[in-house]
Amino acid sequence: MPSGPSKTNTAARVVWLRETLNHHSHLYHTLDKPELPDAEYDKLFNELISLEEKNPELQSPDSPTLRVGGQPLDKFEKVTHRQAMLSLGNAFEEKDLLDFDKRIKDRLKKTTEAVSYVAEPKLDGLAVSLSYQDGLFVQGATRGNGQVGEDITPNLRTIKSLPLKLDNAPDGLIEVRGEVFIDKPSFKALNKEQQARDDKVFVNPRNAAAGSLRLLDSSITASRPLSIYIYSTGPVEVDIDLPETHWDMLQWLKSLGFPVNPESKKQKDISACYKYYNTLLKKREKLTYEIDGIVFKVDSLEQQQELGYVSRAPRWAIAHKFPAEEATTVLLAVDFQVGRTGALTPVARLEPVFVGGAMVSNATLHNMDEVSRKGIRIGDTVIVRRAGDVIPEVVSAVESQRPEKTKKITLPKTCPECGSAVIESEEMAVAKCSGGFNCMAQRREGIKHFVSRRAMNIDGLGEKLVEQLMQREMVVTPSDLYHLKREELLQLDLVKDKTADNLLGAIEQSKKTTLGRFLFSLGIPEVGETTAAQLAAHFKTVEALADANIDYFLPRGIEGIGKTRADAMVEIFQSNDMPAEGAPLQEWLQSNLPRTKASEVEQLLKKYPTASALKQVCANDLQGRAASRVEGVGETMAGLIVGYFNDPQNTKEIKSLIDSGIQWPAENETGDASATNDALAGKTFVITGKFDAMSRDEISAALKARGGKVTGSVSKNTSVLICGEAAGSKLTKAEALGIEIVDEQGLESLLS
Ligand code: IVH
Repeated sequence: MPSGPSKTNTAARVVWLRETLNHHSHLYHTLDKPELPDAEYDKLFNELISLEEKNPELQSPDSPTLRVGGQPLDKFEKVTHRQAMLSLGNAFEEKDLLDFDKRIKDRLKKTTEAVSYVAEPKLDGLAVSLSYQDGLFVQGATRGNGQVGEDITPNLRTIKSLPLKLDNAPDGLIEVRGEVFIDKPSFKALNKEQQARDDKVFVNPRNAAAGSLRLLDSSITASRPLSIYIYSTGPVEVDIDLPETHWDMLQWLKSLGFPVNPESKKQKDISACYKYYNTLLKKREKLTYEIDGIVFKVDSLEQQQELGYVSRAPRWAIAHKFPAEEATTVLLAVDFQVGRTGALTPVARLEPVFVGGAMVSNATLHNMDEVSRKGIRIGDTVIVRRAGDVIPEVVSAVESQRPEKTKKITLPKTCPECGSAVIESEEMAVAKCSGGFNCMAQRREGIKHFVSRRAMNIDGLGEKLVEQLMQREMVVTPSDLYHLKREELLQLDLVKDKTADNLLGAIEQSKKTTLGRFLFSLGIPEVGETTAAQLAAHFKTVEALADANIDYFLPRGIEGIGKTRADAMVEIFQSNDMPAEGAPLQEWLQSNLPRTKASEVEQLLKKYPTASALKQVCANDLQGRAASRVEGVGETMAGLIVGYFNDPQNTKEIKSLIDSGIQWPAENETGDASATNDALAGKTFVITGKFDAMSRDEISAALKARGGKVTGSVSKNTSVLICGEAAGSKLTKAEALGIEIVDEQGLESLLS
């Protein structure tokens, strides 16, 4: 922990605290390279608060204590921008971009030479202007109408990555422009909190950011997870030579301590710009914040000057928009789709609308809880969202556009596919068809899951073919797939000679699998790939898993007793102070066991009535059902697993599958059969940074499936650091410890 000047020299101490805290806040929030533990930061912060309270004259405008917000305002004052805040012209396709480049070359009379650009993600937030006088943040304003905005200085001060004081800034005025936003994970967390407090839920991150910035009470703004990226300068009046290109200007801003988007890149010509657009479009979903396009700016500031402005937009920049992810349309009807576990999902039938780059006429409404929470009715104008590969969803209804006659969405009483009763229960978020095995939809979805790539991976068995096979009753349950004959397949209109051979080959090939995959394929409710692999590693055989009861998964102890108390009790039972065998125990236990209620002593004695029985108890036996024997399998999931294996129809099907030749190598200690001879087996991995092709969870699952261990922090026991883009302190630490570092490309070859 840094110490600084003596506490007796208050003025020097305040300056040092301010600078130290600002420095560490910059390392943490802007550079993502924290050096000081949170608790130590908080301690110094609290010291500064108390010194400033006692000596208000020592508080300066760059004090980090101002970030917590201040007295609420009555209204925002108007601010006239020294230089107008403009908007941008738009491009929607490659041709618009080429036309833009041509216009620029014509004006610059540079028809043969390439013009270079800077590409920046266009964040979907709010534009703000920040003024710094002699390096100190003095005022911040909204864009407003471009000429006049509102003074929101106290609110902007609460943004942790906004520097209150610049590093080595020249004297004079520096004005910068940037975008305030809320990243996607923080937005989700914020809405969860809002919901828990019965407060307003925000429609999207942009609205949440806008709402938070325009609060008159900056102490509420301080609790909102706002971020900022700076993308240009405004008027700058300083006595130094300024950079000559936009790119160098961004580097200068970075050196002053401003957060600049690390995705911004220099481009040698317009075709490089278009490539960048496509790369970012693919990466869009993976970015932690929402972007609605790319801004391309002529790099040379001299050329920018020469090009100038037309109406309210610069000629030297353009926004190449991504297809909108949200659109409004009309909700025509709602149908209910039955899933593999019988869950009924309300599906919206929509007036077709172009969104996220495709025509959408169906979208999910998730479940009935969501429908009622969002208050959506048939006939409403609704907002539909389609982002990347994610299934389109209905986000909300536009209540202001509600027509007179709308219809309530109601859950059917019987399954739309098999007519069995639909069950709703308090504990289940979703309503379910009670038809089970008799429901064609449940069986169909179960088979689709069984053959899917991450399950048994039977190539060539698409949705249509599964449906035909089921309609003709050639396949009733998954095990029937393994008895299909070539002649039978050739009767189907979708199957020709070659398809039949390929399909039979794929079915045959699928027989060689792993226990984890097999368990996943069965479609045990709630059991995903990771849990299936964990179950395989733990039980090693299907029989052992099938024999496990709830008490095995969650050893039944005494309700309410956690690990700490259980450990303390065991220590007492094993000490020499225990009453002799046969002596009365109740009173002794009541006064000697820590924080133990009479009812708990009673339960304890019912299970272990004698001193010698108590002496043999281990802590796990005492704990309530808190500790599961299998990671990730809690009470609900354990109940579902046990229920699954208690159903004779399921065990009969498992036997048929195994009898038809499905097999897997024996499980080894690391948990996955394929890991036996794997170079990754037994190694410890840490994953950091952002990746293009896989999510961190996917990387982690892939490494674990190969017998690797994945941990959260770098230590000398780490074997390999898997390092994506924009990695922070983990990379620094791994480098310092001389640990092997593998990037995304290296990871691919490691896994292949
Ligand atoms: S440059 C004169 N760069 O887009 C240049 N704007 O349509 C004007 N925006 O109001 C802005 N990211 O809110 C610029 N990297 C970026 C941007 C960006 C987002 C927003 C900004 C502006 C709007 C213009």
